Amino acid sequence: MSHDFFQYRELLTSAVGHAVEYLESLPDRPVDKQVGSEELRLSLGGPLPEAPSDARRVIEELCQTAEQGLVASGGPRYFGYAIGGSFPVALAADWMVSAWDQNAPYYVSSPAAAVIEETAADWLLELLGLPKAAGVGFTSGAQEAIYTAMITARNALLKRTGWDVAKQGLYDAPRIHVVVSDQIHSAIKRALWMIGMGEQNVKKLPTDGNLRIIPESIAEVLAECDGPTLVCAQAGCIDSGAFDPFEALADAVGKHPNAWLHIDGAIGLWSAASEQQKPMLQGLERADSWDTDGHKWFNMPYDSGIVIVRDAALLAEAMGGNSMGAYLTDAIAKPDRNAINFGIGASRRARGVPIYAAIKTLGKQGIEKHLDACCALARRMADQLRQVEGISILNEVVSNRFSAQFGQGDDEFRNTLTARVVHCLQQDGFCYPSTSGYKGLKTMLISVLSCHTTIADIDASAEKIVATYRVEAAKLQAPDTAS
Ligand SMILES: Cc1ncc(COP(=O)(O)O)c(C=O)c1O
Repeated sequence: MSHDFFQYRELLTSAVGHAVEYLESLPDRPVDKQVGSEELRLSLGGPLPEAPSDARRVIEELCQTAEQGLVASGGPRYFGYAIGGSFPVALAADWMVSAWDQNAPYYVSSPAAAVIEETAADWLLELLGLPKAAGVGFTSGAQEAIYTAMITARNALLKRTGWDVAKQGLYDAPRIHVVVSDQIHSAIKRALWMIGMGEQNVKKLPTDGNLRIIPESIAEVLAECDGPTLVCAQAGCIDSGAFDPFEALADAVGKHPNAWLHIDGAIGLWSAASEQQKPMLQGLERADSWDTDGHKWFNMPYDSGIVIVRDAALLAEAMGGNSMGAYLTDAIAKPDRNAINFGIGASRRARGVPIYAAIKTLGKQGIEKHLDACCALARRMADQLRQVEGISILNEVVSNRFSAQFGQGDDEFRNTLTARVVHCLQQDGFCYPSTSGYKGLKTMLISVLSCHTTIADIDASAEKIVATYRVEAAKLQAPDTAS
């Protein structure tokens, strides 16, 4: 079997055809086909292939068979969770990342990737109004970005007590207090477990009806923390889009002798790039570290996360990039950007490239327009739904998302009806909300993140949601007559 260079042209040309066909079908195809895994295994599974196959046929078959199990989450009416589409330019740049196949963590293995990521990092800091000298790493997603920031925070907090984690490990280390919002995302919980902070040691700050930390609660909780203290807040709560009171948090952290403030902005950090939205994020720049996702609201193809640490030296120290094997010492000694100092991955694709291409194409103005448009579309949908008797919008729509409940009656009735409405919508495939929870209630989550969503998509989806609600409410109220 040969792997001639001409094969690239043949195979990529075939892939381009399939890709464009798929992408152009996004506005019209059902969002989710609800295919069973057994069915998929029949066409995609099978025994380990013994003999070689024709590569072109493999690609053809792959495209045809995967088709039935693809979720059109890059399309204009996918409103579930926090999944955006892709800016066309970001996808094109991402293809080049695969074609170039550069190993990005070292300058020597890709000077171009190093300088592109360095530039993207500088642009991001300016765009988001964060300290110019902060360290920026490109990760697989917010989860890895949070984990990276938590490792850095833990080591820095302990270092201030005279404890060196790299040398002494964690046995007998001073106890770290952890303070989080009672609405903190599970990615923070996972990262805390991973860095050795048990759930039992975490103190929770209460939130208001919009799922935002109540500022008055902060000082009291921090006063109970008499040692190194890690505080986690969020910019853009998954269920309400709320921004925690960063100014009050930064004030309390500033008064504490040894505390670190991390802001999880997986969804909402981008709001800092919008003049309209920025006022809700006052104090954001005073934190010690931040994380966000490119693959959510910034419409990068997966995977694209970003970690930012105010003191780049602390990030580099925590990542241990200077203590690599002898075969890397010359590479690391180069004065230019070695991304190994800004993240966990010792080998990775050049994730900063699509971000660079998107910022260059959209500019500050284009980015702001995209962010504001999503918020306006979310408000438009919420306004249409709340006019219907029996539909309640649970949060103030401050960003690109809202949580809704269906029906009138007790919690159990509304929870059941809400789950039914969302499942019916998902099965129907015209638009795709997801279920979530809001202070114990079952909800429909609508998240508007895609550059492809239009007013027409919003209006037609709202109409579909209302119609589905009416049908399901009638069935639930009159179960004997339901088919
Ligand atoms: C607020 C928040 N933080 C963190 C994450 C984790 O992001 P990722 O899935 O990119 O790791 C999410 C995902 O939805 C989120 O909404």
